[in-house]
Amino acid sequence: MVMKSKSHWENVYSTKSAEHVGWYKPYLHTSLAMIANTAVGTNARIIDVGGGASTLVDDLLGQGYEQITILDLSSAALSVARSRLGAAAAKVKWIEDDIRAVQLPPAHYDIWHDRAVFHFLTKADDRQQYIENMQRSLKGDGHVIIAAFSPEAPPKCSGLDVQRYTPELLQNELGENFALQEHKSELHLTPGGVEQMYVYCRFRRQSDTD
Ligand SMILES: C[S@@+](CC[C@H](N)C(=O)[O-])C[C@H]1O[C@@H](n2cnc3c(N)ncnc32)[C@H](O)[C@@H]1O
Repeated sequence: MVMKSKSHWENVYSTKSAEHVGWYKPYLHTSLAMIANTAVGTNARIIDVGGGASTLVDDLLGQGYEQITILDLSSAALSVARSRLGAAAAKVKWIEDDIRAVQLPPAHYDIWHDRAVFHFLTKADDRQQYIENMQRSLKGDGHVIIAAFSPEAPPKCSGLDVQRYTPELLQNELGENFALQEHKSELHLTPGGVEQMYVYCRFRRQSDTD
């Protein structure tokens, strides 16, 4: 299952340029705004799970963030991002692995960011592994930003089935110790002209003392 998924993504990034994949955006404005709204400092540890070849890392480096990790299943996607960044790529930690299975350091990250990855997990077991990994590696009062297809979006992304979310449905997946801080709907137009409505949600884990 993991291998099938990996070969799908390696094929996508090996056959299309990063600007021609359906989810491409030159700037992830809403992600950047939500990261800014967490008010963490530039020394905060940020992980972009399923970051692929996205430009988020370029803009975070440009804003002075110093501890960025990009994790993705696809080595082809990570190579695109690394080559684009050139020497600056050395400032980033790159992890090629599956978010359901990877061993991340415990209580480590201030921000967990995911745009268009969690929504591919259509099986409850896969979602549970993802959420357990997120809970383990996030700091006690860490932030979670997830962007997923909303119910108005098509039922498939990159030819794969997706689970579509409202803020309430995402809240149910994360559990009640994550408090929703803000959410925003955003219409994305793919390079091929297909409309996809996303919902972006920012949560904060409530530490035991809250
Ligand atoms: C739709 S793309 C979104 C990429 C990026 N977040 C963006 O917004 O441009 C989904 C990404 O998730 C990665 N991915 C899919 N399943 C994954 C998994 N189980 N673990 C890690 N990465 C995964 C893919 O390789 C791909 O880069």
